[in-house]
Amino acid sequence: MIKNKLSDISLPIKSELEIFEDLFKQTLKSNVLLVDLIARYLIRQKGKKVRPLLVLLSAKVAGGVNERTYRGAVLVELLHTATLVHDDVVDNADKRRGFWSINKVFKNKVAVLMGDYLLSKGLMIAVKGKDYDFLDVITNTVKRMSEGELLQIRKTRKLDIDEATYFQIISDKTASLLETCCQIGALSTSSDKDYHEAMRKFGEYIGIAFQIRDDILDYEGNSTTIGKPVAGDIKEKKITLPLIYSLNQVPKHEAAQIKKLIKNIDHKENVKEIIEFVRRNNGINYSFETAQNYSRKAKEMLSIFPDSQSKIALEALVDFVIDRKN
Ligand code: IPE
Ligand code: MG
Ligand code: MG
Repeated sequence: MIKNKLSDISLPIKSELEIFEDLFKQTLKSNVLLVDLIARYLIRQKGKKVRPLLVLLSAKVAGGVNERTYRGAVLVELLHTATLVHDDVVDNADKRRGFWSINKVFKNKVAVLMGDYLLSKGLMIAVKGKDYDFLDVITNTVKRMSEGELLQIRKTRKLDIDEATYFQIISDKTASLLETCCQIGALSTSSDKDYHEAMRKFGEYIGIAFQIRDDILDYEGNSTTIGKPVAGDIKEKKITLPLIYSLNQVPKHEAAQIKKLIKNIDHKENVKEIIEFVRRNNGINYSFETAQNYSRKAKEMLSIFPDSQSKIALEALVDFVIDRKN
């Protein structure tokens, strides 16, 4: 039985992951000194590589890993890295993956331009490989990710967010990319439309579970384990599922009081008080159960694929996503 450690989950795909790593590093090499410097700084950080893992495992489950699969994996990780670099500018975050963020080390303008560079590099790989089917999905994904972030910013300013809007936001800003990873994995290796659609849905569900877990970690994690600021969301006045649910559990006047605390979030005690409020009203438990429902739905999507070690690994990855500590 595969246990939930990412290194164990990656086992059936170990050699493929190494090929990916090499290609990823190679792609980031640049003659421009500053670009190369930042690229090497990024490579040292070691993210979880969830997205390339999804591409590789989806492909292996749907037929087999090939040249196109590797390009897809590099494409999504480049795009992901670009969005993280941009996101830390947007959120004014000083830590990422346990390192100082690019905006903190090199200033905002450098981070914005580097993010653009990474994104264009990713798209170039697909153009050069003539993977027009990848481009077709990924350009729509880039659009959705920006829309999700923008919708979040608008809702943040008004503090008026309900569950439906929350799901719209996380579906666009996060799940769309994980969805794309699984879709690209299947596209790279199979022409079976049912396979494409099942993998797309699998990715969508795992993506939603992934972001709910992320939003829970913002409440219960500590900055050492998660490698980025804790309670960052609430400090940015971002209302996520644990808080949305909790606000719905209490009378209107109490909810209004909590919103007042959010408006004045610069007072340190307010952050603590909101976290307490969420705990008291079961916001974390409810969110965890919701994430579990999505992980169940994700696993159901895999039933049409033949059994294999890689399929077991994908199932284990679903569990990892909601048990993860960073
Ligand atoms: C962080 O993604 C951004 C979100 C969509 C929540 P990851 O948690 O996959 O980041 P790394 O790549 O492992 O650092
Ligand atoms: Mg953000
Ligand atoms: Mg977060």
